[in-house]
Amino acid sequence: MSTDNSSTAETVDTLVVGSGIAGCAAALAGAHEGSDVLLLTKAKRPADASTDWAQGGISTTGSDPETLKRDIIDASDGTADPEAIDVLLEDADAAVEDVLIDTLEIEFDRDDGGDLDYTREAAHSERRILHVDAATGTHILRPFLHYVDSHDRIEIRQDTAALELITHEGRVHGVISDRKPPEDDSSGPKAPTGHPIYAGSTVLATGGVGALYSRSTNPSDATGDGIAMAALAGADVADLEYVQFHPTAYAGDDPFLLSEALRGEGAVLCNGNGERFMDDYHPDAELAPRDVVARAVDAERETTGEVVLDVSPLEFEAEFPNIATKCRDRGIEGNEIPVAPCEHFLCGGIDVDDCGQTSLDRLYAVGECARTGVHGANRLASTSLLEGLVWGLRAGVDAVGHDPEVVEAPELLDSDPDLPERFAAEKSIRLRRTMDDYLGLERDPEEIARASAVLRRLKGEVDAYIRTRTARDLYELRNASVVALLIARAASENTESKGCHYVVDPEPVEHPAGD
Ligand code: SIN
Repeated sequence: MSTDNSSTAETVDTLVVGSGIAGCAAALAGAHEGSDVLLLTKAKRPADASTDWAQGGISTTGSDPETLKRDIIDASDGTADPEAIDVLLEDADAAVEDVLIDTLEIEFDRDDGGDLDYTREAAHSERRILHVDAATGTHILRPFLHYVDSHDRIEIRQDTAALELITHEGRVHGVISDRKPPEDDSSGPKAPTGHPIYAGSTVLATGGVGALYSRSTNPSDATGDGIAMAALAGADVADLEYVQFHPTAYAGDDPFLLSEALRGEGAVLCNGNGERFMDDYHPDAELAPRDVVARAVDAERETTGEVVLDVSPLEFEAEFPNIATKCRDRGIEGNEIPVAPCEHFLCGGIDVDDCGQTSLDRLYAVGECARTGVHGANRLASTSLLEGLVWGLRAGVDAVGHDPEVVEAPELLDSDPDLPERFAAEKSIRLRRTMDDYLGLERDPEEIARASAVLRRLKGEVDAYIRTRTARDLYELRNASVVALLIARAASENTESKGCHYVVDPEPVEHPAGD
């Protein structure tokens, strides 16, 4: 089904989907180049993006870019792409200086002498990370959104989800969104059959996949939307098996991140017997690469009952006030915080070049939904905000210069808008359980195959409904199930343990005697 509405169609030079650091950077760069930019976000408040939750900081190149390059490659177990890292290093310090310090005037923490206070995190060989308390993401994103929102070439449209890409002859021409432009109603009326927005270029900056797991440090709506839409439109994706788990999230319900900066400043991990254990796993102990620490924490929890992060070597309250407040709010008392690994970041994603261009014409991807090659199989701490900033700026510039074309757009159907009650919620629970059980920190080939079978069935059930309904939660579930299947496929095709993809021998199946 299609519609020809060229006279009334909404068009824009550059369409950005997502309101984290990468989306803001792309919007800013596009506007500076003279493009009119529309930034869509499904969040009701644009600040509700993963960037806002980032704690540790943003890496600079430190004393020598080559040393950072070596740290990135070592953390990735030798799998990060050196050319992609060179792109990152070439732009890193200028991007931080020009955009974050000069334009947004972010006041990174300083030491008593007034110099910038660089912190250290795991697998960094020196102090090179800029931060604001351990709430760096919030302190970057809020002013960034404010700046972008007041730019006369940029419009931010919130509570508006992109449901599908509009493609024609291998080129992307924008998206179908679930809301029309706002009129009097600030959130805009729902568009039951979808509202096409035609764009000269489309930049996906939709973040990660935390909602595919029951414990994540991402906002709960991180359903991999951009990756699913791009993959369904035929874009190349890569490295999806590399789902990174952060070693130290609060172990209780409703987990929150306990930044690596805590370990960088001296906090230590102890097991249920009260013993430090990281020396047994890696010469760098608590500062080993993230995947190594995450598996060690998991193993010690299994054998000794619990693992705690002991913050007594720090001036915890004074140095990390926002994390200390979070602990107090949860009733965590004393210096020992129970921790467990938690889904944190997808190292792979939509395959892009050094300007964020995907394999589809006029489609870009930046930030966590993109795979630039910088992270390989395991990301070095505090490189994600930097990668989002650098690639966002590059993509924003590269995306200009194309006029929007009004082509035939798919018209979505809403012939039976009422979903069975709790349909999406129940399927999401099944999806998360499958990912937790079979595609977590350790993977066994038989379990991956089992996961794929469950996920294929689940996606079939969702597809049957999506043909006749445009409900946002159904599309989010569709996206989550597409990305989950892609992760399962990538995991099944890669038999080598590297970084976040750790393959174990199948559990022996016990057969009854005489079997
Ligand atoms: C943290 O603060 O530990 C997270 C930093 C990151 O994921 O880069």
